[in-house]
Amino acid sequence: MRLVMIGSGYVGLVSGACFADFGHSVVCVDKVEDKVESLRKGLIPIFEPGLDALVASNAKAGRLSFSTDLAAAVRDADAVFIAVGTPSRRGDGHADLSYVYAAAREIARAVTGFTVIVTKSTVPVGTGDEVERIMREENPQADIEVVSNPEFLREGAAISDFKRPDRVVIGTVEPRAIEVMKDVYRPLSLNEAPLMFCERRTSELIKYAGNAFLAMKITFINEIADLCERVGADVQKVAKGIGLDKRIGDKFLHAGPGYGGSCFPKDTLALAKTAQDHDSPMRLVEATVAINDNRKRAMARKVIAAGGGDVRGKKVAVLGLTFKPNTDDMRESPSIAIIQALQDNGAVISAYDPEGMEAAKSVIDGVVYATSPYDAADGADVLVLVTEWDAFRALDFARLKTLMNAPLLVDLRNVYPPQEVMRHGFEYHSVGRKSGGAA
Ligand code: UDX
Repeated sequence: MRLVMIGSGYVGLVSGACFADFGHSVVCVDKVEDKVESLRKGLIPIFEPGLDALVASNAKAGRLSFSTDLAAAVRDADAVFIAVGTPSRRGDGHADLSYVYAAAREIARAVTGFTVIVTKSTVPVGTGDEVERIMREENPQADIEVVSNPEFLREGAAISDFKRPDRVVIGTVEPRAIEVMKDVYRPLSLNEAPLMFCERRTSELIKYAGNAFLAMKITFINEIADLCERVGADVQKVAKGIGLDKRIGDKFLHAGPGYGGSCFPKDTLALAKTAQDHDSPMRLVEATVAINDNRKRAMARKVIAAGGGDVRGKKVAVLGLTFKPNTDDMRESPSIAIIQALQDNGAVISAYDPEGMEAAKSVIDGVVYATSPYDAADGADVLVLVTEWDAFRALDFARLKTLMNAPLLVDLRNVYPPQEVMRHGFEYHSVGRKSGGAA
């Protein structure tokens, strides 16, 4: 099949490369010429494990190409996917759909023959209707169907999530569109992923409801973690104990510094706004947003308390800056607010991240970027683990102890068993578990 991806960001690039790998012929379109130029040279603008090799092999096989010419790409396509950004609009938290609508207009002018238009970007309920209205207004002759097909991939595991999804949700009840979408996803049937067809609005809401539910689950366990610290319980065992109940499930019950990233913060906010607009407020989601925002500053207070109540003039070494491991994405990362709050309290920050330091430089000021965890810890009074990169899972505590002013680790991801750290003579604080001094 001939497929076109409009927007070569995270979702567009991963989906485009994976569809090409399924054997389809895919053109990824982007407005930014430099980006397209680099993609043609095999330079991938994001860090995602396996993506560069997947792009390279499919480009070499002639199944994947890059272009700035939307009209030429769309002309003979069977399906055109809109995978442009939908950032939070400044001021009101609604999703900004101007890129989606602009793409829809351009596509409408270019289509020939029956073409399925697929919104892959996360868009509020009713956007598909508006995309269809705009396209029919722009080109009344266009033979199109507009389908919603939300993407559920996680950064850092994007390729396996795309190729082995739990389900594929497709919002259309039009028989011609259903046939095209079945062909698009046919290679997946080998992996037995169920295709779920439903109405377009239902599909749009599934994406938001799914992300909000996961964000709520994380926020729930984070509040349980706070309570665990007060009552002397262990959040990891509580998570395991409730997660074994199949109705609850054990995923997304890892307590930490609060969720970040390009999806959860934006999508929870947008869902809460949509619900308010329709006079059907979602108080659980509103509370989730507020609790998660506060949590980041609370984590800075935790570090300050661990450091004896005052970090003025002290050196705090931060390990991990990205919102999660295996990405270079800094969007809404808890590290940003935590570092800011520590700096406001007079701390001097050194930081190390395996992939995120370039991106961090443009969003965090006044930080000394180190070349390794040990370089960051040199002369530090407190070591804070903010993102659970594998590189931080087997730290050399004996070495750290000789480098640091005081052997103190605040582990905001519960990477270590407390005894293991304390055995090395460290004071250890984590999330939702008992803190303790050197053993
Ligand atoms: C998420 C959704 O999982 C995905 O389905 C959707 O398409 C996009 O948003 P992503 O943002 O890439 O994916 O990362 P995810 O692994 O879901 O983590 C999001 C945030 O939650 C991270 O900051 C992570 O550290 C945090 N998290 C996740 C927790 O704090 N605890 C958990 O148990 C799980």
